[in-house]
Amino acid sequence: MTARKFDITEQVLKSMKPANARFGVVMSALVRHLHDFVREVELEEAELMAAIEFLTKAGQICTAKRQEFVLLSDTLGVSILVDAINNRLPESATQQTVLGPYYWKGAPELPMGSDLARGVIGEPCFYSGTMLTLDDGPIEGAVLDIWSGDGEGNYDMQLGSDEMRARGRLATGPDGKYWFRSIKPFYYPVPTDGPVGSMLAAMGRHPNRPRHIHFIVSASGYKSIVTHLFPSDGPYLDSDVVFGVKQGLIVDFKRHEPGMAPTGEQVDVPFWTCEYDFRLVRGEQRAA
Ligand code: BEZ
Ligand code: FE
Repeated sequence: MTARKFDITEQVLKSMKPANARFGVVMSALVRHLHDFVREVELEEAELMAAIEFLTKAGQICTAKRQEFVLLSDTLGVSILVDAINNRLPESATQQTVLGPYYWKGAPELPMGSDLARGVIGEPCFYSGTMLTLDDGPIEGAVLDIWSGDGEGNYDMQLGSDEMRARGRLATGPDGKYWFRSIKPFYYPVPTDGPVGSMLAAMGRHPNRPRHIHFIVSASGYKSIVTHLFPSDGPYLDSDVVFGVKQGLIVDFKRHEPGMAPTGEQVDVPFWTCEYDFRLVRGEQRAA
């Protein structure tokens, strides 16, 4: 077989009359890279069928609360690569990371200092810090949209709850300070009962994410950020299945014996504190 027999790429490219210039750039690069990939691995017919079956199963398992294609993008490192290209923030700014599939829009607006966990299983944790500009000025009116799984790594959505749990929105006052109670998050596996789970197993990869709590932080006149904080003590920080860990987002959570919490309340079990100052970049606020 001559090399010319494999040379269908130019014909496909020439056949295109893209709807707009950007679509043309994206689709022609996709065709070139896809063809190069097929030539490089000399894709077998059975392998093409397996890929088609894989994508079919991914579509079939998607529901309003389950997005297998986001999981595929996350676990192949595509989501975090797109983030790196699109969110080139200064090093001193709080960095962005993956949104994940468990964001639930419309978390309750709560007074500063609230307990987001309200009975959710887990070790109590008191979070505090300041919302700052890059030159350390406080940001008033910044909104923290916060969510996490429980202390066993399960999100309310996964437990089939119609009620939001371990979620809330808080707004900072003139001093930019925030504080709230929740739980210390636990590590957990991403859903493994679908085709992405099978893919991870076949690749010899574990499915776990390290402990983390999610935030979307937004303030008028500043770029919104989608981010996490990761407790420094726990497994998978160096092998997050979705490659979402960034050094500046790892925080030493401090353990305390039962006693008075920073909010002044008495806690009769050991508890944790997490202190972190968010630093936002001036710019257009994106819709969350
Ligand atoms: C999460 O952190 O909630 C998450 C992110 C990406 C994939 C699965 C879960
Ligand atoms: Fe998460």
